[in-house]
Amino acid sequence: MSAVALVVAAGRGERLGSPGPKAFVMCGGRPMLEWSIAALKAVPEIGHIVVALPAGVEAPVGTTGVVGGDERSHSVRAALHHTLAGDPVLVHDAARPLVTPAIIRATLAGLDPQADAAIAAARVTDTIKEGDRGTVVRTLDRDRLWAIQTPQVFRREVLERALAQPHEVLAAATDDASLVEQMGGVVRLVESPRENLKITTPDDLRLAESLLAARRT
Ligand code: C5P
Repeated sequence: MSAVALVVAAGRGERLGSPGPKAFVMCGGRPMLEWSIAALKAVPEIGHIVVALPAGVEAPVGTTGVVGGDERSHSVRAALHHTLAGDPVLVHDAARPLVTPAIIRATLAGLDPQADAAIAAARVTDTIKEGDRGTVVRTLDRDRLWAIQTPQVFRREVLERALAQPHEVLAAATDDASLVEQMGGVVRLVESPRENLKITTPDDLRLAESLLAARRT
């Protein structure tokens, strides 16, 4: 059975300061969402692409659009409910336009028979400290830390169970893998370049544009 990809693109992108939805902000000459769709279409293992969008927005050519939800995980659930088949299920944020077919294929391949999920992640290079009201509580062991990205790949039945949890549990989740972890699932880390960054602020957008321009030269 071929994999299905769910792309979440229904966020408002307030921190980017754009008037419209973030996924449609121009980035390197095309709407941000189009970069992820092009990368997914270049992966033969992916049979179908469903995109969660703000209401009233048309889906990109060759994809199926669904209206997203209140928070990110609600948008993932709306997209998942729209697919009847497809296993495993790959989830990707439209806010990561630098994803490549190689990252997507490596993450799909990371789902070994014992795993419930496999997620793209970059090794952390900064020293990370935990703080409380402006004072350091502790320094974490950097060798064990990973900055989590998308794509995230799930066995269909595992993602269905994770997303069947109450509305508030989903609202609190910043990624889907954390819902699987809470259920005791096995989540594999697949090393991915830091370049697969998430666009949140105008600075991120400028950095992504220069990285995309460098790819063309
Ligand atoms: O807001 P944040 O950057 O964490 O959003 C990550 C991704 O989730 C983005 O691609 C955004 O479009 C998507 N999202 C969504 N529905 C929401 C909120 C965010 O599809 N309600």
